[in-house]
Amino acid sequence: MKIVVAISGSSGASLGLKLLDLLPGEHEKHLIISEHAQIVLDKEPQAIIHQNREIWAGVASGSFGADAMLITPCSMNTLAKIACGIADNLITRAASVMIKERRTLLIAPREMPFSPIALENMLKLSRLGVIIAPPVLAYYSKQQNLEEMERFMIGKWFDLVGIDNQLYQRWSDHES
Ligand SMILES: Cc1cc2nc3c(=O)[nH]c(=O)nc-3n(C[C@H](O)[C@H](O)[C@H](O)COP(=O)(O)O)c2cc1C
Repeated sequence: MKIVVAISGSSGASLGLKLLDLLPGEHEKHLIISEHAQIVLDKEPQAIIHQNREIWAGVASGSFGADAMLITPCSMNTLAKIACGIADNLITRAASVMIKERRTLLIAPREMPFSPIALENMLKLSRLGVIIAPPVLAYYSKQQNLEEMERFMIGKWFDLVGIDNQLYQRWSDHES
């Protein structure tokens, strides 16, 4: 699959990098980092990296044919722009392309609490078929530490866009 991972400037930007690390090697990986996310990130993952200002990059076009795009995490700023159809950088443009081409777009909004504006933006996008999947923990798979919690969230995101993984212990009746 051709997978686009975008990281915008919310807390937990390193989660997006971890997701990229855990994405199986057979997938073609593209990474877009917003200017604000870049402030937090100091290491380079193995992927084709696009600067957010590079609005001319391949992922900005419907003909690129990305199978899925994951914005993990997504700031309220980027969420609002996408919900309004603003495409002023590569992340928002690529997201708008995924919506117009009816392809898989997963957004992981990170804020606490969510404002009514953010909730309306999420509802609007959800109704358009965008997967809204904030970084939320479950307690049934017995995570012991931050690493396992992150693997759980990333595993759930992979499940949602159709990427096989064994990143977390799935719920089973036998363990209830
Ligand atoms: C340390 C730090 C943490 C932040 N955490 C969040 C956050 O969790 N959620 C959010 O929506 N914005 C957060 N922000 C604010 C965004 O970075 C800011 O709104 C920025 O304009 C987002 O730009 P982008 O959407 O282009 O990445 C944070 C900013 C800083 C400096």
